[in-house]
Amino acid sequence: MTESPTPDNPMQTTSGDASNGQTVSYPPHDVADFSLVDEGVRRIEWAEREMPVLRLIRERFEKEQPLAGLRIGACLHVTTETANLMRTLKAGGADVTLVASNPLSTKDDVAAALVAEYGISCYAIRGEDNETYYRHLNAAADTHPHITMDDGCDLVTLLHKERPEQLAEVLAGTEETTTGVIRLKAMVNDGALAFPVVAVNEAQTKHLFDNRYGTGQSTVDGILRATNLLLAGRRCVVAGYGWVGRGIASRLSGMGARVAVVEVDPVRAIEALMDGHQVMTAGDAAQWGEIFVTATGNLNVFREEHFRVMQDGAMLANSGHFDAELELAALERLAEGHIREVRESVQEYDLGEKKLYLLAEGRLVNLGAAEGHPAAVMDMSFAGQALAAEFVARNHESLDNAVHVLPEDLDADIARLKLEARGIFIEGMTPEQIEYTNSWDQGT
Ligand SMILES: NC(=O)c1ccc[n+]([C@@H]2O[C@H](COP(=O)([O-])OP(=O)(O)OC[C@H]3O[C@@H](n4cnc5c(N)ncnc54)[C@H](O)[C@@H]3O)[C@@H](O)[C@H]2O)c1
Repeated sequence: MTESPTPDNPMQTTSGDASNGQTVSYPPHDVADFSLVDEGVRRIEWAEREMPVLRLIRERFEKEQPLAGLRIGACLHVTTETANLMRTLKAGGADVTLVASNPLSTKDDVAAALVAEYGISCYAIRGEDNETYYRHLNAAADTHPHITMDDGCDLVTLLHKERPEQLAEVLAGTEETTTGVIRLKAMVNDGALAFPVVAVNEAQTKHLFDNRYGTGQSTVDGILRATNLLLAGRRCVVAGYGWVGRGIASRLSGMGARVAVVEVDPVRAIEALMDGHQVMTAGDAAQWGEIFVTATGNLNVFREEHFRVMQDGAMLANSGHFDAELELAALERLAEGHIREVRESVQEYDLGEKKLYLLAEGRLVNLGAAEGHPAAVMDMSFAGQALAAEFVARNHESLDNAVHVLPEDLDADIARLKLEARGIFIEGMTPEQIEYTNSWDQGT
């Protein structure tokens, strides 16, 4: 049996007895429950079956060791897919520490398996409080990473705000999500960013698929697991028609829901209209909707004035990065303490004249109430992360302290490998076509 960390001594290397009676040593960690290791391994292997591109990269990394001698501090959702990314980085020679990028998204079996089976340092406990979250984030910073790998920019922010003396040690970073990229661009505008960061989110093979199809499907999955509601005929409101919002809207509508979109950008609003959805103001949508999902990356999209006019039984969910899209403080104020958990991941707010239901505490519903994106889509996102780590390891000296995109050829390679893994091959242009597309003198 392995030893669980104790609250008094939570982050030490612990040892366990292997089945052959030998004492094994674990890397530094803080995870919830080592009795979940076997389940974690099974689920990580299950996800791996859907991640052929990452597997190919891992096999190449094992031979070429592009990350040898580098410490990587990763702050990502601790899921089965992330575990396969961590294995890939380790295979490439990196010394990896993984911490949670959200208190509710950690899968405890995965965290335990990473430590006990794969020898990867991990600090993550599902439901951890804010203090533990930041203690874990600091544990990643304590390893003095050469490369940061963020989902939401928390590790980069911590280093810049609280550990400026460490900034010179960081060669570069990578960032997974839209909200993180927005924070990084704000740092560049302030002249604050101290090392280059590759915005993996900006790769076509990331946001076109992960944000749209991954979040689209898994958000609906989270809503259904939490509520078991019938979607057919239901009036659903999606706030934000970016890559995430359009994925959610299309999946909800595919299940027979009636969808209204709330947007602030007129171009995106007209896209929503022509995709067949209704477009409304937040005020009108608040009165119309039965299920609300936010995916804007913005603040207080639905707030007190909207909660006041919503119908009895309205469900509130968020799939944007931070739990700031629903004005939770207002919801609490209106309920005057009459809040109770009525199902796992569903809190009832009794406002007297009506009840409103909050899913997954207003945090990412697809990770809080379901398993996050399916592995097949994370295969491409995390292939991008692995290749971005290799890219910055090789090229950090020539990159300025700005937000960079993954080179187009790497993006295209990921897409090509993904197609080939499905047994699908595409056309190449003929020499005549190449010449034609490169010429300017052949017209009508
Ligand atoms: N749940 C997940 O697993 C997951 C996955 C990927 C991205 N994300 C997060 O989802 C959020 C959206 O990402 P994206 O890639 O779709 O971004 P995006 O920039 O493509 O889209 C955001 C959209 O929200 C709109 N918007 C902004 N403020 C608004 C407001 N007050 N009301 C209505 N609309 C508003 C913008 O005009 C834009 O069209 C980000 O926080 C991102 O980090 C979550």
